[in-house]
Amino acid sequence: MTPTSEKAKQYIYVVQASLEPGKCKIGKTNDLERRLKEYNSMTGKSKDNVYQYLFSAEVKNMTKLENEIKVMFLHLREEASKEIYFYNSALFKGYVEFINAHKLFVKETFIKVEEKKQVVKIVSRTTPSLEDRGLSPKDVLQKAQKVNNDEFYTRYEDVEKEFSMYPKKIWKNKTVFCNCDDAVDDDERNTSAFSLYFIQNFHELGLKKLICTHYDGVVDLFNQGAKGYIFTKVGYKEIKDFPKGYNGSFDHPLSLKILEEEADVVCTNPPFSRAIDYWETVIKSGKKFLIVSNIANPITKAYIPYFKENRVWAGYHRIDYFLNPKKELVEASGHWYTNFPIKNRPKYKHLKIMPLKEIPEKYKRYDDSKTLLVDHCYIPSDYKKPFAVSARSILNGLLEKGYKIVDKNADYIAFVNGKQCFRRILVQKEQEG
Ligand SMILES: C[S@@+](CC[C@H](N)C(=O)[O-])C[C@H]1O[C@@H](n2cnc3c(N)ncnc32)[C@H](O)[C@@H]1O
Repeated sequence: MTPTSEKAKQYIYVVQASLEPGKCKIGKTNDLERRLKEYNSMTGKSKDNVYQYLFSAEVKNMTKLENEIKVMFLHLREEASKEIYFYNSALFKGYVEFINAHKLFVKETFIKVEEKKQVVKIVSRTTPSLEDRGLSPKDVLQKAQKVNNDEFYTRYEDVEKEFSMYPKKIWKNKTVFCNCDDAVDDDERNTSAFSLYFIQNFHELGLKKLICTHYDGVVDLFNQGAKGYIFTKVGYKEIKDFPKGYNGSFDHPLSLKILEEEADVVCTNPPFSRAIDYWETVIKSGKKFLIVSNIANPITKAYIPYFKENRVWAGYHRIDYFLNPKKELVEASGHWYTNFPIKNRPKYKHLKIMPLKEIPEKYKRYDDSKTLLVDHCYIPSDYKKPFAVSARSILNGLLEKGYKIVDKNADYIAFVNGKQCFRRILVQKEQEG
């Protein structure tokens, strides 16, 4: 029998079958060797499909930790069996990092497998890398915008990571509106990360009301069917309403009514193909918001006026991975944007503000029209004329450090020796006094 006394060691493991490289199982046990044998006997001792541990660790309370893993990675669990998680190298790194960093983690363990043939082929990816396809993560969301591919959904850990940075008082007695396909289902895996975060933390945050809408688009990201609906949670009461003719679009009159009359805070990851209209709608409403969008927005024409007029600024974090409808991890460069105050922006430290002559030569140059270009977040502190910076400097809080955007209607495309450089924006030091 497996020892179950209090003294029995407790383990969390990640195991994988050689014929299922896109999946792994995460579980708990008191006896790693026995558990591995059980897995391998399940496959009928097939020599072709061998289970092998990818990772195992001794922990203090395996049940508690396993439950936390389920919550943390719920979008990465397969429908049929709660033990099965999606696997690729980036996801695996996420599982291991979470376990290693947990306060219940004791130490990593290594299990030797006797049979030489039990070698698991660890695949690095289930899909070709962006590099393989000649793309950068930034291209992906820009491409998504062009080809109307809106089906990227946000991972729970990214929502939690960003929202945990804001003081709880911003939610107290507030109505939160998640208005872009933030579906709610009995099965948490068919619930958007935004909805789930607010449902799970409703009381803890002291929310007054949560309203989430499901969009009846062509791709049904959360298996919610073809009808738009409005989910409302007040206290412990939850209702789902399917108003006649309602499609769940953020600009449907009913959604706009909720936005105007009920919402205090709007939180979502809107469709990339409609991002321009979405920003206009939400910013015009005057409501507080915390939304995800393309990392290049601060240097993209349609959004520049909002940054210049200080109606929006970067949130705390970027987002490098989303999930596609098959729940595979896809790389794309997103960022949080908000109009909530950002306290002591941690990314200020990436701005290297110093006299122009101290900026290393390789990070400053003049373009063909004699405009100064600075890279790598170097910023001249004593330069009076406009100069061009990348989106990164704006995301790191440059506009909060006494610099302003020069032209609210344009991004800046520099040419050096006739050769076009990447897109930037012109900024200038504000006059003192
Ligand atoms: C980028 S995904 C994000 C989904 C979800 N909010 C999340 O964060 O996981 C955007 C979603 O908005 C949906 N959508 C497209 N047009 C919409 C519209 N006009 N109104 C509301 N949602 C829309 C898309 O089908 C897609 O499911």
